[in-house]
Amino acid sequence: MNKIIGIVSGKGGVGKTTLCANVAFSLAFAGKKVIAIDGDISLKNLDIPLGMTDKSAYDFTDVLSGRCAVDKAIQQHDDYPGLHFIAAPQQIDADSPNAEGFAQLCRQLKQTYDFVLVDAPAGVGRWVRDIIGCCDQCIVVATPDLTALRDAQRVVQLISDSGNPPSRLVINKVSPTMINRGYLQNIDDMMDSVALPLLGLVPTDDSIVIYSNSGKPVAGTKSVCSQPFKNIAMRLCNNNVPLDKYWRKNKNR
Ligand SMILES: Nc1ncnc2c1ncn2[C@@H]1O[C@H](COP(=O)(O)OP(=O)(O)OP(=O)(O)O)[C@@H](O)[C@H]1O
Ligand SMILES: [Mg+2]
Repeated sequence: MNKIIGIVSGKGGVGKTTLCANVAFSLAFAGKKVIAIDGDISLKNLDIPLGMTDKSAYDFTDVLSGRCAVDKAIQQHDDYPGLHFIAAPQQIDADSPNAEGFAQLCRQLKQTYDFVLVDAPAGVGRWVRDIIGCCDQCIVVATPDLTALRDAQRVVQLISDSGNPPSRLVINKVSPTMINRGYLQNIDDMMDSVALPLLGLVPTDDSIVIYSNSGKPVAGTKSVCSQPFKNIAMRLCNNNVPLDKYWRKNKNR
């Protein structure tokens, strides 16, 4: 069960951080001990959807450089005790972290936590490669547009060059209407184009922005994204959760 999971995408803004926060919440709701690490060293923001801003003066680079013990950088969520968080550094010109040190930190956390989730930055740079290199598995996030799907293919290439951890695809911001009208590829074609098995589909829902801004979980609300996030978390726990009926019917139309 112990897993280090990297959340990567290629293209920016596709929903990695939102997914990371809501999968972390969902795993914690399911009784798992989970730690989310903000790996976005230049544009950190995982603290916002987790509702854990400014709770620690330390970030993971402080741990790597020996400025603080790992316990000092770990923050526990006030409302969900199973959920923990380590921040990314503040400086926009932060040096690329020491890859081996980061891998060691993740392996150390894996001894104590059921899941270590790493929210990666966009792109296919060296640091993204380093994150992939220390993960037991990756979640590749794409939106249904061709640009995001093509960038996801590039990340799949990077994954195969970086130890090839097992990886699955999440398609976020899916609009069933757009697919049914033929404006977008169907889900099967999207999976084929990225060449990864599907971990989950998350529809578009503007209310996500409201939950994220207030640091509240979407899972457990009336949002149409609540169940999809929970389903993804359950699949990460190796539960067999079928696609919901609507998607099964329309997957290859
Ligand atoms: N399913 C969704 N429906 C509607 N809005 C969404 C959905 N998922 C994410 N968003 C919104 O899209 C924006 C980008 O999301 P997010 O920051 O999670 O992307 P990201 O991939 O982490 O971006 P970056 O590459 O910059 O790190 C945010 O405003 C977020 O609230
Ligand atoms: Mg992000």
